[in-house]
Amino acid sequence: MSRIEIIGGEQLKGELKIQGSKNAALPIIAATILNKGITILKNCPKILDVYHMVNILEELGCIITWEQNTLMVNSKKTSISCLPEDSVSKMRSSVLFLGAILGRFHEVTIAYPGGCSIGKRPINYHLDAIKRMNVEQEFLGENEDIIHCYTDKITGNDIFFERSTVGATQNVILTAVLSEGITKIYNAAKEPEVEELCKYLIRAGAKIYGEGTSYIEVEGVKELHDVEFTLSPDRIVAGTYMAAVAATQGDVVFHHAPSQHLEATIDVLRKVGCFIEVKGDVIKVGNHARPKPINIITEPYPAFPTDMQSQLMSILCLAEGKSIIVENIFESRFQNIGELTNMGAQVHIDESGKIAQITGVNSMHGAQLYAHDLRGGAALVISALAAEGSSVIQCTDYIERGYEDISRDLRLLGAKIKYHCG
Ligand code: EPU
Repeated sequence: MSRIEIIGGEQLKGELKIQGSKNAALPIIAATILNKGITILKNCPKILDVYHMVNILEELGCIITWEQNTLMVNSKKTSISCLPEDSVSKMRSSVLFLGAILGRFHEVTIAYPGGCSIGKRPINYHLDAIKRMNVEQEFLGENEDIIHCYTDKITGNDIFFERSTVGATQNVILTAVLSEGITKIYNAAKEPEVEELCKYLIRAGAKIYGEGTSYIEVEGVKELHDVEFTLSPDRIVAGTYMAAVAATQGDVVFHHAPSQHLEATIDVLRKVGCFIEVKGDVIKVGNHARPKPINIITEPYPAFPTDMQSQLMSILCLAEGKSIIVENIFESRFQNIGELTNMGAQVHIDESGKIAQITGVNSMHGAQLYAHDLRGGAALVISALAAEGSSVIQCTDYIERGYEDISRDLRLLGAKIKYHCG
């Protein structure tokens, strides 16, 4: 099993460039099915989740080429509309192929993606919305966990989401791009990764209006064309490394950082005591004192993101006082608490499982740690960097799903961190 070894206590210092965005890349990789041609995707992060989506494209018949961080997809000869069950079970984001394959072939068979380590994660909003677009659905197999969607014609319709959902908004957009008529999405997710998918599709010839707002209109077109697109930098990777600077009381300049998408994170880090200067895509972060406590609720964009919650908790464990975090998006995103307690932190979850009370301690110590999910794993790296002594983090596959090379990046900033493969 691969592991990361860290000797804590070094203040992070230096300069670092931020990798391309995972959550922008994944839906766009699914979308490459729609243009029956070539997509050149620049600044694509080389992470496990991207490799997994690319493997699915290959299984569907696409031709894939990589040149450093540029991914080229030729989807001309794709002919299969059935997604293998083990591909879907490996990774939840493969559900984004539902809309893309349906849009191209008017038919898709896909296994029901189960829950995952951060919560139940149902897909009822995806299925209810797509059904309204003249798509029949049947549930096959012994456990009725294979979804078969088919139609002779996808028709635009009005879609209202009762809560903000990134994936279902993206799936409706993917389904609607080559449909007949207009699809109006009310209460659409405003996350930058929804906007980025729309920008990619528009560049390929789609007609989409209102991206980045809670009302999106998609006017179906007959076909898309070849496209070249550059992915934005990853706002959560940037936020994770900024949190590491806060926890270790360091000073770092980040280049190629998506500052316009980091407002809530920057605001929170300033409240815990960081000095932050933003100039275009350059962010300078410094922290020279013990963090201050804060109360925070995770909410959809532009509010403070659930994907930064675990990293913030790692900082608050060392704060001078009591903090409260309310996790509003996923059911099981407090799995780090056992690990943090082993390092000397004081964290208590209430009966609802949604509210964590954190009493900051003066210092934490290194320990044997287990990553339970992607962001939680990255947060353990932060805690280990800030702790006294050495830590070993197991189950690092989770971290590799979203970070190209967290050990390399942090080593560049002076951390004593080593990745051991296998
Ligand atoms: N939900 C439902 N039914 C649905 C869809 C969602 O009940 O049909 C619930 C979810 O269970 C959750 C809430 O609605 O409680 C919001 O889920 P959403 O659909 O917005 O999340 P997602 O599309 O599954 C994406 C990101 C997550 C990020 C969330 C929230 C990707 C590939 N994943 O997930 O990223 O936390 O939006 O912003 O874009 C990560 O990168 O670590 C990660 C988990």
